[in-house]
Amino acid sequence: MIEAMDISITKTARSKLQDLELDNIPFGKYFTDHMLEADYKNGEWQNIQIKPYQPLLFEPSLSALHYGQAIFEGMKAYKDNNGDTFLFRPYDNFHRFNISAARMNMPEISEEIFIEGLRQLLKMDKSWIPPMRDHSLYIRPLMFATDTALGVKPSDTYKFMIILSPTGPYYAEPMKIAVEEKYTRAAPGGVGFAKNAGNYGGSMLAATVAREEGYDQVLWTDAFEHKWLQEVGMMNVFFVINGIVITPTLDDGCILAGVTRSSAITLLKEMGLVVEERKIHIDELLEAYKRGLLEETFGTGTAATIALICELKYKDHIMRFSLDRWKIAPALRKSITDIREGTRDDKYGWMVKV
Ligand code: COI
Repeated sequence: MIEAMDISITKTARSKLQDLELDNIPFGKYFTDHMLEADYKNGEWQNIQIKPYQPLLFEPSLSALHYGQAIFEGMKAYKDNNGDTFLFRPYDNFHRFNISAARMNMPEISEEIFIEGLRQLLKMDKSWIPPMRDHSLYIRPLMFATDTALGVKPSDTYKFMIILSPTGPYYAEPMKIAVEEKYTRAAPGGVGFAKNAGNYGGSMLAATVAREEGYDQVLWTDAFEHKWLQEVGMMNVFFVINGIVITPTLDDGCILAGVTRSSAITLLKEMGLVVEERKIHIDELLEAYKRGLLEETFGTGTAATIALICELKYKDHIMRFSLDRWKIAPALRKSITDIREGTRDDKYGWMVKV
């Protein structure tokens, strides 16, 4: 366990926390006093350190910048009424990190460094966890290739890091989403299921075009027909059609296996709802909307939590929703919030005390 892990700790001389008001802070703008770092060299992880948050110094030939071996995770830490720190399903993120690593031909990280290293880091920076409702400490583990050479090959060296950022809600308002029919995020056999940096880089242009047309994000569709719905890039997506909850299947490896997605499926089933994980075609959605059967549509994600979607656009079709009549997404949001805040029984053991 942690005692066996050789970890060097350097504390900051002055906490930046005294300069910051934690209420209503934007997502991902401020970082805590410390960060964790480990280096992969000669086939093993070494040089594990926690030190003051600071810039990194690299040569311009850094392999990750050229060939994109870079992955990350998103997790959250909360404080309960007794001041204890909890993580939400951290082992799920740890496993997914290593799934992303394997797909990107990168080395796996050990549970000791990822989970126990994170525990140590959180113990040092726990006063940065905002106590306010809908606020949390966002955790960003990342790994990238650090060879300094231009040959196209998997790097021999990597850096693993964890940085922490206090945050308020990512999407405070209901979202307007455009169904994407030109650009592609993922195809079978590709890297759509991995949380690698390139998936996000490749989505920027489509999101910018959508924003110019008044939409917050795009809903990705399949690479061949642009008809089968995938995910929103920063979140998985759910539709309630005639009382049945439908979410795109993970089967073809094109979408991220969201931890919030999986929690939502469990809680929705517990609410007595039928949840179908399957392929869903845009025409099925349009038809349901026309017949008044498309009842709710929402996204799930670590940063986004449960984000309500108030408008969906596909070609010239605009699907608008009156959120005030919705029951399922608000109930789901409340269940997850209650589990996180400790006011609802955590019967699946999702909250892990630090
Ligand atoms: C998350 O929900 O944690 C994400 O990684 C989405 C985004 C902020 C990149």
